[in-house]
Amino acid sequence: MVDAIIKVDGLWFAYKEDEYVLQNIDIQFDDKPTAIVGQNGAGKTTFVKVLKGLLKPSKGDVWIAGTNTKETTVAQLSKIIGLVFQNPSDQMFKSKVIDEVMFGPLNIWKDKKDKNFAYEQSIKALKIVELDNRLEEHPYDLTLSERKLLCLASIIAMDPKIIILDEPTIAQDRFSTRKLAEIIKELIKDGKVILTITHDMDFVAENFERTVIFYQGRVLDDGPTEKVLSNEENVVTAHLELPNLVKLAKALDFKTTPLTIDDFVEGFSTYKKAEG
Ligand SMILES: Nc1ncnc2c1ncn2[C@@H]1O[C@H](COP(=O)(O)OP(=O)(O)OP(=O)(O)O)[C@@H](O)[C@H]1O
Ligand SMILES: [Mg+2]
Repeated sequence: MVDAIIKVDGLWFAYKEDEYVLQNIDIQFDDKPTAIVGQNGAGKTTFVKVLKGLLKPSKGDVWIAGTNTKETTVAQLSKIIGLVFQNPSDQMFKSKVIDEVMFGPLNIWKDKKDKNFAYEQSIKALKIVELDNRLEEHPYDLTLSERKLLCLASIIAMDPKIIILDEPTIAQDRFSTRKLAEIIKELIKDGKVILTITHDMDFVAENFERTVIFYQGRVLDDGPTEKVLSNEENVVTAHLELPNLVKLAKALDFKTTPLTIDDFVEGFSTYKKAEG
């Protein structure tokens, strides 16, 4: 088994005294692409902000690549873990696309690397999200979907091992969502650990091996996506919807939980044989 790159031990977190929005979370993450799902207010964003070191645990510990987040700085952690915020305007503040992306690399490597290196890394990151022909534009002249990709590029440019995306599919059309799925696949191939918070259960089924369900500040279920989505009771408790393919398979009384069209076709052929 691959060692856990993220370890969370007895984590509690409260914004206001004694109002815990994360309660006794024990979880580990290795390099499996993982989706984090749960209804509004379940604590997903708070959880990933704690992982990123932006919020410190009220109780318990978080280790990122062996380092306790209490014993390091957000700047140090940025070299290992990047978080793409749900709302691009929380992350963007420069007036040119290229400056926006170079900001992170210039800051985290200011002691060792030169400007050329930061530029090269930024161009590489912009190529991945296909914005490398927009360098001089103002970020606010990009569409919302492009701004979300720009924020992702700003994180990729710092080359962290772990990349967390908070609701990347919101405000994306089908085409952009597919493009995002392709980018995520590339990043995984490149050795990145990807955690994604999303409400889009079809996106979960198609792209993530592991799914964690948050419910009222706790982990309600966690495991291979197929297994987690087979347990409808938990999905209903967490106020989530099953992916469309899974709904269809259930309506047809499949014995399997198909996550992709290929799974569905395979399930359908065994189902037809059983019928016939
Ligand atoms: N800065 C804050 N100060 C006080 N309470 C907060 C703050 N941010 C979030 N909360 C509260 O913490 C709880 C968890 O919120 P969080 O944003 O982590 O949930 P979420 O699962 O990301 O929800 P969503 O799906 O709506 O993004 C909610 O009750 C929320 O109101
Ligand atoms: Mg959130």
